[in-house]
Amino acid sequence: MKYFTCADDIGNIKAALQEAAEVKRDRFAFTELGRNRTLLMIFFNSSLRTRLSTQKAAMNLGMNVMVLDVNQGAWKLETERGVIMDGDKPEHLLEAIPVMGCYCDMIGVRSFAGLKDKNEDYEERVIEQFIRYSGRPVFSMEAATRHPLQSFADLITIEEFKTVERPKIVMTWAPHPKALPQAVPNSFAEWINKTDYEFVITHPEGYELDPKFVGKARVEYDRDKAFEGADFVYAKNWSAYADPNYGKVLSTDRRWTVDTKAMALTNNAYFMHCLPVRRNMIVTDDVIESPRSIVIAEAANREISAQTVIKRMLESL
Ligand code: CP
Repeated sequence: MKYFTCADDIGNIKAALQEAAEVKRDRFAFTELGRNRTLLMIFFNSSLRTRLSTQKAAMNLGMNVMVLDVNQGAWKLETERGVIMDGDKPEHLLEAIPVMGCYCDMIGVRSFAGLKDKNEDYEERVIEQFIRYSGRPVFSMEAATRHPLQSFADLITIEEFKTVERPKIVMTWAPHPKALPQAVPNSFAEWINKTDYEFVITHPEGYELDPKFVGKARVEYDRDKAFEGADFVYAKNWSAYADPNYGKVLSTDRRWTVDTKAMALTNNAYFMHCLPVRRNMIVTDDVIESPRSIVIAEAANREISAQTVIKRMLESL
């Protein structure tokens, strides 16, 4: 595998889940694969889980790891071609990327959506430039429109906790004070659509996602109806996708906060969230602290999804 930016890059989902289970059984079984290989992790945005889990995954594989926070300690980077660089950005991404490629064998990139220009975000300009100009295998540590390492970890977690072959998965919008990208819900939908699970997406009107990601999911605007019989509730906030409101917060309606009353409608569902989560906006304390909350197991599986992906990339070097 040379690139990992979306669900299709992982190929057969059952095979990927089996490989992840094998990695989890003995995460130090492949320490020779990464010997004398270097991973460069580049962050344009903040992170806790992705930073730690991906670094740990690479170390499990015997790799050396370098981390660059572009906005703290590196030159500020211009990303637009054709710009007269007379502002506060002294280096262009088009030189910086091949230079970074000189110092490593593989690159992980985190770069969020700007939420101002939908075309720019959905063209994935930053990670695409890394793929084109670095000369190295590149994987996404969350890009403008997808977060595949998160979704892979989510699916690993569902596989571990499900008690029926085809669980009902409900992804629900929940309120948040700030505008957040659609990357996590897009990606979660894309990965769940690779399974044969029953899949329902619920959100207030105006929060429709790109139909390309919604795929075969059923969209239900009535959250109570959506929650009926759910085996897993996956909560996430996202800003509006549809024009003319792209990137805007249309509602902070706390009736959409996931609480015990809503969870009581489900089939004793597990609660999931990618974290970080705003308590009592997205989910109440009671729900996230309940025995049915699997957010920590989900975060722990970030190490496994990252290790499976990096392992496949090392095998292709
Ligand atoms: N879920 C996730 O990607 O967390 P971080 O933003 O902390 O990496």
